[in-house]
Amino acid sequence: MIQINIDKTLDFISKENIYGYKEAVEKAQLDLEKGTGKGNDFLGWLELPSSITQEHLDDIKATAKTLQDNCEIVVVAGIGGSYLGARAVIEALSNSFSDFNTNRKNPAIIYAGHNISEDYLFELTEFLKDKKFGVINISKSGTTTETALAFRLLKKQCEDQRGKETAKKVIVAITDAKKGAARITANEEGYKSFIIPDNVGGRFSVLTPVGLLPIAVAGFDIDQLVKGAQAMEKACSSDVEFEKNPAAIYAATRNALYNKDKKIEILVNYNPKLHYISEWWKQLYGESEGKENKGIFPAAVDFSTDLHSMGQWIQEGERTIFETVISVDKVNHQLIVPSDEKNLDGLNYLAGKRVDEINKMAELGTQLAHIDGGVPNLRIVLPNLSENSIGQLLYFFERACGISGYVLGVNPFNQPGVEAYKKNMFALLNKPGFEEESKAIQKRL
Ligand code: PA5
Repeated sequence: MIQINIDKTLDFISKENIYGYKEAVEKAQLDLEKGTGKGNDFLGWLELPSSITQEHLDDIKATAKTLQDNCEIVVVAGIGGSYLGARAVIEALSNSFSDFNTNRKNPAIIYAGHNISEDYLFELTEFLKDKKFGVINISKSGTTTETALAFRLLKKQCEDQRGKETAKKVIVAITDAKKGAARITANEEGYKSFIIPDNVGGRFSVLTPVGLLPIAVAGFDIDQLVKGAQAMEKACSSDVEFEKNPAAIYAATRNALYNKDKKIEILVNYNPKLHYISEWWKQLYGESEGKENKGIFPAAVDFSTDLHSMGQWIQEGERTIFETVISVDKVNHQLIVPSDEKNLDGLNYLAGKRVDEINKMAELGTQLAHIDGGVPNLRIVLPNLSENSIGQLLYFFERACGISGYVLGVNPFNQPGVEAYKKNMFALLNKPGFEEESKAIQKRL
């Protein structure tokens, strides 16, 4: 099971200070479980792991098989919560060079609908020319501009290249049960579709088909992913006492640090495969807590890479930060540093050591240096990079996020702030229904 260690925050805040949040955390836990807190119509994620049926998982796996059998590439179209969870898990579990593997067993997964870059979309359509590709179109609202625009292009290209009948087989929609253009299109065209439950918000949807279908298409074991999440659902429930409850301890510690002016949390990894876990985590915490002019700013770095860029700031910049390090206990492969007779590079002192041993010493050395520099450190130990461990990690962060948001006093399940840019963009593009806004915005230019 994943473990959390807060010992290296105790030079900065006392245990009593952290345990002072016990009552607020326990109230937050009950509010989540009883549905008595803010945003209680979006709590469908809370018991998702334990309520997923085998029948549902088998349906997802059967659809994944259809895509695997008929596609060399599957494009996942989605943005934010409809994109980051799948990418986070796929990248964490994939071989770092699988994109270059021409003998791959499963389709390569690539992404679209998460930007409006003409160059990206042009290059994507060029790349897909003559390729047997399929599309998973993911949008809860079914109306998100970035995703809808990419899907319009991909749908046409897929139909043109593969014919309408095959396109129907290799395009899958994951969207609302009734509303939105993605639902209308799926019904009209007869695509296989999955429903995103009303009570699960985008950033909490990785354990719905939003995450599970792309992960299954990429060839990973979604049963194990869900099993890991189930184990963490138990480990984080309100029945588990505060001291032993990882989500409770994480939520309490970060709130205690925030109230001691540590306004920025940096999620750190020492394995580049975890880069998109950090991207997913940034959305989860940023969108859940950043409101009412409060909330920790979630940032992320990949070490040791970023020790050679952001390391200086973290060591000696403004002291408003704390770090949460995700440490992978056992790596998947073994590589020993060879001895060299001439030792021209002076590295023979490392000969015979595993590369991971060096990485772990970089981690330990950095942690101690950053503490000396005034940066409190939390540590989350992940047993390994497996489906089960990643499933645990996802649910741990979700649960802690719900608790932490309630302790902060906000509604962690809405995102009113993301509408502002959309309104302006629609006004500038003269979208029907935005006539008044269009006039008003023109005057500001
Ligand atoms: O978490 C969220 O609610 C957002 O990130 C959404 O997932 C994102 O904006 C995409 O929305 P939709 O799934 O409706 O296309």
